[in-house]
Amino acid sequence: MGCLAGVLIATGRVAIVPRKLFAVALAAFLVAAVLALPVLRRLLSSWESNPVLRGRLVAERSGCFNCHLAISGDEIPNPGSRWGSVPRFAAGNAMMYVDGRQDIEEFIRFGAPRSWMSDAGVRERLATQHLRMPGYEDRLSEDEIRDLVTYVEAIENPALPGALPGDSAAAGRELAKRHGCLACHGVEGSGGLPNPGSLGGFIPGFVGRNFGDLVQDKAEFREWVLDGESSRLGANPLLRFFWRRQQISMPAYRQRLTSAEVDSLWLWVAWIRDR
Ligand code: HEC
Ligand code: HEC
Repeated sequence: MGCLAGVLIATGRVAIVPRKLFAVALAAFLVAAVLALPVLRRLLSSWESNPVLRGRLVAERSGCFNCHLAISGDEIPNPGSRWGSVPRFAAGNAMMYVDGRQDIEEFIRFGAPRSWMSDAGVRERLATQHLRMPGYEDRLSEDEIRDLVTYVEAIENPALPGALPGDSAAAGRELAKRHGCLACHGVEGSGGLPNPGSLGGFIPGFVGRNFGDLVQDKAEFREWVLDGESSRLGANPLLRFFWRRQQISMPAYRQRLTSAEVDSLWLWVAWIRDR
């Protein structure tokens, strides 16, 4: 279109109509592009979706974090309860309260596991302690409960492929925690945390469908981690535009991670993707 208008402009009078047409078409294109952005964002977020991310969103809108502080901060005091405070997810607390997925599910459904409820002493404590875990069975759908259990399980007990020394996936996860990857890329790389001004409006994770578009192979993963970008995607002017204006950028880890450490991170990412 631009080319056609250009040729006509160069040839003089004939140009007037196509030039107007060109301006109208250009304006229409820009309006369409602006309108398309929210649609594109919705599409990208639906591709990012996975049980852990959906579970986190259910937890947010269900008020779980009002009582369970998610990552850091002091726990809320809870006089009279077993350990004296409301447990924080992801702080190694789970082992004091739950023994597997079933218990997590019973906490969410009934506010305590059945084994607690069948013990008269525990029932009495629950009746007198200051804060109690509310049961959500009537408020949440079965799908929501399943995602929520998966989220809590992922954040509290990622059940890594064995704590064997030298296990590279486990070492990769430790690195991901230590270097803050999980803080930006979400619990177990589940993604979807806000990033104002970016193309999708969120930070992509490592498990959703977007990952395959952003990271084609191990070499590209290495580039992202060491340089904070991918040269293949950087060649796209639209993506560069969003990279410049997004609020949070991927840091370059070249000075901080060795080549072997990037390999461990890659093995961990491959392992969570397999699950
Ligand atoms: C009113 C505060 C409150 C809210 C809201 C709340 N909980 Fe709890 N939760 C507690 C308390 C208190 C305990 C510890 C059990 C006890 O001491 O009785 C607990 C325990 C748990 C446990 C077992 C401990 C652990 O860390 O594994 C899980 C799982 C849990 N809650 C999940 C959730 C989820 C998911 C939500 C949102 C759907 C939620 N809670 C909302 C107060 C709350
Ligand atoms: C300060 C937040 C932040 C931290 C910390 C961070 N990243 Fe990123 N990362 C981003 C952002 C934002 C993008 C998206 C880049 C884009 O689309 O422009 C990204 C992109 C990526 C990508 C490619 C896109 C995808 O699907 O995720 C990979 C792989 C990646 N990061 C791995 C890591 C690893 C491994 C670590 C830890 C060593 C890490 N990141 C730490 C913010 C962060």
